[in-house]
Amino acid sequence: MKAVVYDKSKSPNALVYQEVEKPVPGDHEVLVKIHAVSINAADYRSMRMGIIPKRKIFGADIAGRVEAVGAACTTFTVGEDVFGDISNCGFGGFAEYVAVPENLLASIPASVSFETASALPMASLTALQALRNQGEIKAGQKVLICGAGGGVGTFAVQLAKHFGTEVTAVCSPANVELVRSLGADHVIDYTKEDFVKSSQRYDLVLGINGSHSLSVYKSILAPKGIFVAVGGGLSQVINAMLFGSILSMGGKKMRFLAAKADTKDLAFVMSLVEAGKIKPIIDRRYPLEKTGEAMQYLSKGHARGKVVIQVVQEE
Ligand SMILES: NC(=O)c1ccc[n+]([C@@H]2O[C@H](COP(=O)([O-])OP(=O)(O)OC[C@H]3O[C@@H](n4cnc5c(N)ncnc54)[C@H](OP(=O)(O)O)[C@@H]3O)[C@@H](O)[C@H]2O)c1
Repeated sequence: MKAVVYDKSKSPNALVYQEVEKPVPGDHEVLVKIHAVSINAADYRSMRMGIIPKRKIFGADIAGRVEAVGAACTTFTVGEDVFGDISNCGFGGFAEYVAVPENLLASIPASVSFETASALPMASLTALQALRNQGEIKAGQKVLICGAGGGVGTFAVQLAKHFGTEVTAVCSPANVELVRSLGADHVIDYTKEDFVKSSQRYDLVLGINGSHSLSVYKSILAPKGIFVAVGGGLSQVINAMLFGSILSMGGKKMRFLAAKADTKDLAFVMSLVEAGKIKPIIDRRYPLEKTGEAMQYLSKGHARGKVVIQVVQEE
């Protein structure tokens, strides 16, 4: 089969499109013929940090069709369409096939495309778990989403609206109309306006991207407000992990999210997609052989929504 394999000696981007052996599923695994795989910051960050998957193939968010099942599999059968985040079992999505434990996968309804399903796992679950689990989101709250234009942010805006909140989205001018179209009640263009200088206070703030310090985020919280650090600069994320609990003294809470793959959450997000309540925003599509280029584009940090690799060209 064809796959995109990491080889640090190879220019221009250490990702080589080549022939590799097709995987064979173990007893609890299914063999998935991948149709689409979306890229996440986790792919290029792991690569930069030298955390290389065993088979040297990145790609976590897969969508495809079950081609074979292991002897002990009970959930899926051959021909079913499935999707999921396979980062916890060694990645492997930038390929024509992958063998994965069936308990990491959820079903794709007939009305949903492989491309849409591939765009969901990591980004939408990060947004969901940041808002609901760490952020304890409640209808009627004022929510600020900093970094609203990317993979996680575009889901966060839609989910926060779904939960009945008043959403302020922070993004660059290129994404103002996009996030407004996703339901944001107020949009702040960070090149023109510094939300920190506003007198507005928020019940929940998601720090998905941007470079403000924790104390700045704390200053814009309402008295019992919650800040959730999702991403952005590495120092910002480390500070949130190390000092979040100290800064949470008093009524305001400063929390850090470590998103987890979860098939119940996947099914929940998929039910919202199926009902037309949320949708992934696809910025760019690349064929499998151009995965290196796609990774370079995403790693610049200004994608509008998701970047998808079309392993099989859909009709
Ligand atoms: N904690 C977790 O469990 C977890 C899980 C998944 C991802 N993450 C992290 O979450 C972050 C976002 O992931 P992603 O998939 O959404 O990345 P992405 O798709 O690359 O999104 C980047 C977005 O950030 C925006 N941005 C860049 N600089 C900004 C600034 N100064 N202020 C506001 N927005 C800014 C960009 O929009 P503009 O072009 O409009 O600037 C772009 O749309 C990454 O740091 C990732 O590592 C964390």
